[in-house]
Amino acid sequence: MEHSGLDGAHSLDRLLSVEIARVTERAAVAAAMLRGKGDERAADQAAVDAMRSELNTLAVEGTVVIGEGDEDSAPMLFVGERVGQGGLPVDVALDPLEGTTLCAKNLPNAITVVAVAAKGSLLNVPDVYMEKIAIGPGYAEGVVGLDRSPRENLESLARAKGVPVDHITACILDRPRHAKLIEEVRATGASIRLIGDGDVAGVIHASDPLETGIDIYMGIGGAPEGVLAAAALRCTGGQIQGRLQLNTGEKRNRADRLGLTDPERIYRLDDMVSGDVVFAASGVTDGNLLEGVRFHANRIETHTIVMQSRGGTIRQMRTRHFDLARFKR
Ligand code: FBP
Repeated sequence: MEHSGLDGAHSLDRLLSVEIARVTERAAVAAAMLRGKGDERAADQAAVDAMRSELNTLAVEGTVVIGEGDEDSAPMLFVGERVGQGGLPVDVALDPLEGTTLCAKNLPNAITVVAVAAKGSLLNVPDVYMEKIAIGPGYAEGVVGLDRSPRENLESLARAKGVPVDHITACILDRPRHAKLIEEVRATGASIRLIGDGDVAGVIHASDPLETGIDIYMGIGGAPEGVLAAAALRCTGGQIQGRLQLNTGEKRNRADRLGLTDPERIYRLDDMVSGDVVFAASGVTDGNLLEGVRFHANRIETHTIVMQSRGGTIRQMRTRHFDLARFKR
């Protein structure tokens, strides 16, 4: 059978949306077993092991394009690693535990994340920082942009939403590098939801303001996380822009090697994710959109969101797992 990315493989695309949930669920359970135990590395490793072994059951010929790092630094789920049993050629972006500190401290919004996309349709980015701005669906293209000041963006968003700017809530990572941004946002009267970690969840939250109370994500986080977040927005609708932070020659060289030669370029959603994508995330700890894993004597419960850009579906799956042995492998 000829495969050409997710196009022309509709049934597999549909099947994947269930199978991909098993991948993030299994990683979430593995991480949750170490939730609140103060050991980030152990929780991350458990999630990596579980995710890798479940990914390798999928009927795809997958290549990890957003992963745990270079082959030298990450022995498993490194960029370039082949995953799956063979079949549909796809690109895979993943973060087996997004918010390692959140998990270790049992704080909200630690999640496990996978996106499977048509081959060649995910932007390959180096592991550097990316400045990001993201909003949910329903706004005209260009309502906000990285080429404008925080005040201009917040006032423009407030006008488009039909509310005063002090009714807008921005989600920002709590980092010293954001001191000026935070000051500028507060000066407009807008409210800030400061998060300790987890900007993939931060962007996804901005795509559903009614549920989360967050209208916009702003600030600098990981570039791989930016592409993962763009994959989610490709399914939910919404806008994201990202600009790599290439402030050293070494970082510029790494970007160059991936063909990203303009250090000032602003990448839009379609630049980051240009084809069909299936995206899944499971909660490890309780969060704004996803509940964390629940352990009971005879079952484990997981909460997962699975989104498909083709067909435009967003599914919430609350799963009861009675085969507990599956999670001991
Ligand atoms: P980890 O899960 O790898 O710990 O990343 C968490 C995270 O908060 C990301 O969501 C975010 O993009 C990045 O770290 C921000 O990096 P830094 O902690 O260096 O500010």
